Amino acid sequence: MTTMNPAAARIEEIRTNSLRGSALSADGGSAISLAIGEPSFATPECVVEAQAQALAEGMTHYAVQTGAPDLVKAILAHAVPPSSPLCDTRNVLVTHGGTAGLSSTILGLIDPGDVVLIENPTYSLYADAIRLAGGTIRGFGRRPDGGLDLGEIRKLAVSAKMIILCQPSNPMGTVVGAEEWQELSEIAGACDLLVLSDEAYDGIVFDGCEFVSALAVPGLADRLIVSRTFSKKYAMTGWRVGYLVGTAELVAAASTAHRTFNGAVNTANQYAAIAALERAAGEAEAMRREFQERRALMVSCLRDKGPVDFSVPSGAFYLWVKYPEHFGPSQTVAAKCLASGVRVRPGSEFGTGGTYRLRLSFAPDRESIVEGCRRFLSVFET
Ligand SMILES: Cc1ncc(COP(=O)(O)O)c(C=O)c1O
Repeated sequence: MTTMNPAAARIEEIRTNSLRGSALSADGGSAISLAIGEPSFATPECVVEAQAQALAEGMTHYAVQTGAPDLVKAILAHAVPPSSPLCDTRNVLVTHGGTAGLSSTILGLIDPGDVVLIENPTYSLYADAIRLAGGTIRGFGRRPDGGLDLGEIRKLAVSAKMIILCQPSNPMGTVVGAEEWQELSEIAGACDLLVLSDEAYDGIVFDGCEFVSALAVPGLADRLIVSRTFSKKYAMTGWRVGYLVGTAELVAAASTAHRTFNGAVNTANQYAAIAALERAAGEAEAMRREFQERRALMVSCLRDKGPVDFSVPSGAFYLWVKYPEHFGPSQTVAAKCLASGVRVRPGSEFGTGGTYRLRLSFAPDRESIVEGCRRFLSVFET
């Protein structure tokens, strides 16, 4: 019998203690998945064609470690607001999707014992990466009116090194408003706090809600790093391309970690990403509109139909559903859902704020949403 190498065992222990992915074991393939954050759409054709062309033209060699210069230029032109001082090539790093951008930022900047503030609940990758880096997690919540609890953040910020914001939020669908950004930037400046803004769902907002990127907040520019990905907005989850934009110093730190774990990103896929930025805005907008329709469909399938409650999300593509506590913790209820033929995400994966919550994705097609919601509600009939 082989014993596990101590280094691998340490990572395994973090993964085992992690909040991610635990209740969703194999189901034999028959379950409908409302669990995964993946658009059902094919990648826009112009993106696929750009990759094929890049390969045909011989772009099969290593790319520059920090990103193909043409993609870096396109990111600066299309994704960074003209008013932002973060407009130099040294402010950009192309990453292996959002996951590597976030992990590299955390591993490149957080030392053992550093305190990092994350929302409770939030995307669970942050907690795993902070633990790997040896950092300490402190959670903050929201006020009863739904706004960020800036008073709590202010208190915690005094002893923290970094705050991570996910907006539009996975799992809650909330967005950070301009006034909240303004106050956050004052707190960050006063407490010398680094700000990591995860904008994986940038622009996926509904009903005319304004998406304010951290890049558009003048007071943050000297302490900011923003993580984005092509995965969600352009239906490119399998392509594994994302990017960071931040101060040259923070980007250089993240780049050191990224180079160590990942190396340069797939060259041809970087040319596909240029096509996404330059030519796929129409397709991205059509997908956003369809997500809005699917949100309405899921809301109509669940509203007043069972003992569940939720707020209608302003962005991303998830419904964050609360159910009566007597049904048991979210891991138990997610397992019951799976037994009834629908996969959902247990809320506990996102923090203690999700103990009696489940996350349902409306990124799948309409048929899956309708049948998935029917199976979901059946769990609460017993
Ligand atoms: C908030 C958030 N950030 C980052 C990611 C990771 O994105 P990628 O698939 O590009 O690694 C996800 C994926 O679900 C996410 O929800």
